[in-house]
Amino acid sequence: MNDKKTAVVTGGAMGIGKAISERLKKAGCNIVIIDVDEEKASSAAAQLGASYHICDVSNPAKVNETVDKIIENNGKIDILINNAGITSDALLMRMKENDWDRVIDINLKGVFNFISAVLKKSMMRQRSGTIVNIASIVGITGNPGQANYSASKAGVIALTKTAAKESASRGIRVNAVAPGFIETRMTSELPDKVKEEFLRNIPMNRMGTGEEVAAADEFLALEKSSYITGQVIILDGGMVM
Ligand code: NAI
Repeated sequence: MNDKKTAVVTGGAMGIGKAISERLKKAGCNIVIIDVDEEKASSAAAQLGASYHICDVSNPAKVNETVDKIIENNGKIDILINNAGITSDALLMRMKENDWDRVIDINLKGVFNFISAVLKKSMMRQRSGTIVNIASIVGITGNPGQANYSASKAGVIALTKTAAKESASRGIRVNAVAPGFIETRMTSELPDKVKEEFLRNIPMNRMGTGEEVAAADEFLALEKSSYITGQVIILDGGMVM
């Protein structure tokens, strides 16, 4: 145990979550990566000098057990970044119940599971902490083919504001970032035509990077944002103004 801040990053094995882990590590935090991909989590953790736990964020029992282990090892949790998320796209008419449930379970219930465990077991007791949730611009605008995903992200935004209101008096801040179109595995799977269409609607005419999202996360997670809570920072190259 030491006096460094402990930051827990869900979905930290790759993509935006890995970029956030790197950034917070450079800022002097102890990083704990949570992921379901053992191979990628162990290699990211080794690369960063971080620890990792294999845990599906949608499983409340596993989340509680994992949060207990982190507190046992690190004493407390100062920063929680809820980043784990998936897509399972289909037009509403064709969307299967399983597509809906899986996306809501991981993207929305997963955030609830981690926030409630970390608030209860660490932040409320120590009367401090910051939480940053990764939403998405489509949680504000909606997006054809993403009824499940956009509803989950709209839910994350409302959950962020409620958690902020319920925990502000205990010295805890809760904010969200809403990225637009960021270069990661998630977007690499999109067909070229969809990518071109997206780019046409981005005034800055390029995709964002995980590092650019991580910079906003670092700001919201650390003291520079000490009077900001319940907010959503949009990072989308000007797509939605
Ligand atoms: P990614 O697919 O590259 O990485 C997601 C990570 O989450 C992976 O390491 C994966 O193994 C992990 N993960 C998936 N399901 C999990 C579960 N049940 N429990 C624990 N970990 C799990 O995705 P990317 O692009 O880095 O996305 C990160 C977050 O950013 C997601 O919440 C996504 O919705 C959000 N986002 C991404 C955008 C983009 O354009 N890439 C735009 C807006 C938001």
